[in-house]
Amino acid sequence: MSEPLNPTPETPGPAAEAPGPTPETALPAEDAHTEDDAAARRAASFERQRRLRQEPRFPGGPAADPAGSHHERRIRSFQPRRSRVTTGQEDALQRLWPTWGLDIDGRSVLDLPALFGGLPVVLEIGFGMGEATAQMAADDPGTGILAVDVHTPGQGNLLGLAERAGVSNVRVANGDAIILLREMLEPAALDGLRVYFPDPWPKKRHHKRRLIQPEFLDLVAQRLKPGALVHCATDWEPYAEQMLDVLTAHPLYENTQPDGGYAPRPAFRPLTRFEGQGLDKGHVVHDVLFTRR
Ligand SMILES: C[S@@+](CC[C@H](N)C(=O)[O-])C[C@H]1O[C@@H](n2cnc3c(N)ncnc32)[C@H](O)[C@@H]1O
Repeated sequence: MSEPLNPTPETPGPAAEAPGPTPETALPAEDAHTEDDAAARRAASFERQRRLRQEPRFPGGPAADPAGSHHERRIRSFQPRRSRVTTGQEDALQRLWPTWGLDIDGRSVLDLPALFGGLPVVLEIGFGMGEATAQMAADDPGTGILAVDVHTPGQGNLLGLAERAGVSNVRVANGDAIILLREMLEPAALDGLRVYFPDPWPKKRHHKRRLIQPEFLDLVAQRLKPGALVHCATDWEPYAEQMLDVLTAHPLYENTQPDGGYAPRPAFRPLTRFEGQGLDKGHVVHDVLFTRR
């Protein structure tokens, strides 16, 4: 059976919600059903057309599928999700995206010193709802965080949190981190990489979607400065083992732990939302901390 790989711009991602009938226009159940179906079909068609035209869902906000189809398709480490954006997140996206957001369109190389006022910059891949990211930015204003995710509600949430915390050392990037790393960063541009609770892809046939793999580490090594810290954490034991194995086997990384094992959780990593969910299920969390040689 074929797997749902590499969605095209026509098929993935969040869709506009079909408006339901208002109380004044409500119809008897059968008619309402037909009306609802027609309205849903119209909304879906409108959404498809919008995506084909590459128009953003929020004018002035993050673009839908910013890299479009002009980049080689690859197995993706994320699952496109239909996601509801709250009013607060939508407000943050529309007000703050032009200043703090950037679309990963693969078309230009970022000037990180200009974007972060010369601060050292760490890349965080998959910030989810961004609570941990906003806290790390507030705790360490001397480090810039280039935070990337494809999840629109999370982007809005992080923008709102960063604004409320009054921090200016976070940029929110929308799109696939692989395209960002491959097309939009200079060699040795980054001072660190953080990947906290990446999607574990537990089924064997999906393991190829896991982010932390040898080819990913090859690409990351080109973008990291010597001495840069690579910090991964997961509550999925087999993925923790994979992280430790592939990093240990890679000639360009060195374990910070003299015994070659997992690291104690560093004080700078706050509890993340997914970590909390894992702990509630009784999972054990592992941190993996390596340096780029
Ligand atoms: C399981 S969540 C963890 C979120 C957060 N770090 C936490 O611990 O709560 C993983 C996140 O990584 C994002 N993600 C996965 N692959 C990605 C990629 N290639 N580029 C950008 N984001 C990605 C997903 O969209 C998702 O939000």
